[in-house]
Amino acid sequence: MTIRPIVTVPNPVLRRKARPVTAFDKRLQILIDDMIETMRAAPGVGLAAPQVSVSERVIVVEYYESEEAEAAEDQTRKKVWVVINPEIVKASPETVMGVEGCLSIPNVVGEVERHQTVHLKGLSRRGQPLRLKATGWLARIFQHEIDHLNGVLFTDRATRVWLPESQAKQEDRV
Ligand code: NI
Repeated sequence: MTIRPIVTVPNPVLRRKARPVTAFDKRLQILIDDMIETMRAAPGVGLAAPQVSVSERVIVVEYYESEEAEAAEDQTRKKVWVVINPEIVKASPETVMGVEGCLSIPNVVGEVERHQTVHLKGLSRRGQPLRLKATGWLARIFQHEIDHLNGVLFTDRATRVWLPESQAKQEDRV
């Protein structure tokens, strides 16, 4: 596995609509493994392929496996999600504000309103259909990463952005 360079604004790849994946080949598997390693090295809790200059619909997320594990901050109960061609099929009308950062926008944080719960569908890294439901911070991460696939950055949605006095909490960066 290889740590790939993470591109930052204003690199145009971050503004492109990424194309759907159609081939579940060796090249895709290498991309996914590299994205997981790159996310961990950053460190971050999510990464979208355009952030490593690949304009394809691939996201990886590593976060607590459950809200219970999150509340306990139990580092041993984290899980990696890989979703290819992800789509939000249902979103709760309830929204929640939260402070986000992004690995592609260094040293900026912002307050963003996100759906409290989202239902996703997509494909596994082997091309099998998958569905998942995410709530809270995990739902926020998925919404942030799917935005990346559509060329949308959190600063487009933020009600206000600012330069934090100290570095944003590392686990906030996606
Ligand atoms: Ni991001």
